[in-house]
Amino acid sequence: MTSAAGWGSVATVVLALAAQPAWAEGDVGQGEKVFNRCKVCHTIEQGGAPKQGPNLFGVYGNPAGTNEPGSLHSGKLEESGIVWDDATLTEFLAAPSGFISGVRMTFRLTREDDIANVIAYLKANSPGAQ
Ligand code: HEC
Repeated sequence: MTSAAGWGSVATVVLALAAQPAWAEGDVGQGEKVFNRCKVCHTIEQGGAPKQGPNLFGVYGNPAGTNEPGSLHSGKLEESGIVWDDATLTEFLAAPSGFISGVRMTFRLTREDDIANVIAYLKANSPGAQ
């Protein structure tokens, strides 16, 4: 390989990465699969009933605790004053009661890619965030 060809390959890789923002932002299709683990406590379709936790339609971009509360409602979400975005959801999903003291969501995600993907899925189901 000549050095000119080497630089050409680097440029190709940089262009390929720049053309794929989804690579860093999380994948909606993968996030839908991760969401199967949330369904025992959450619905996501518009007008879906709360379960233990609130329905999550439109949650991305909303202040915490905006949707109709579920059966394990603590009041801590609305007291927190948090607005759901990439940063707050990432921290919450990794450690719910560590991020908002007293919150009653006992489930957490440990893999960073699962978190990024499920956030992309929540965002795709939040018309206000498009
Ligand atoms: C074992 C039940 C359970 C599971 C599983 C669960 N949650 Fe929750 N979740 C809750 C409860 C209960 C609350 C409300 C807690 C409260 O009011 O203290 C909640 C709250 C939330 C909120 C805040 C909603 C709002 O209106 O501000 C988000 C976002 C959320 N969950 C996302 C998820 C995601 C994403 C998953 C799957 C990766 C998941 N949850 C899995 C029980 C669960």
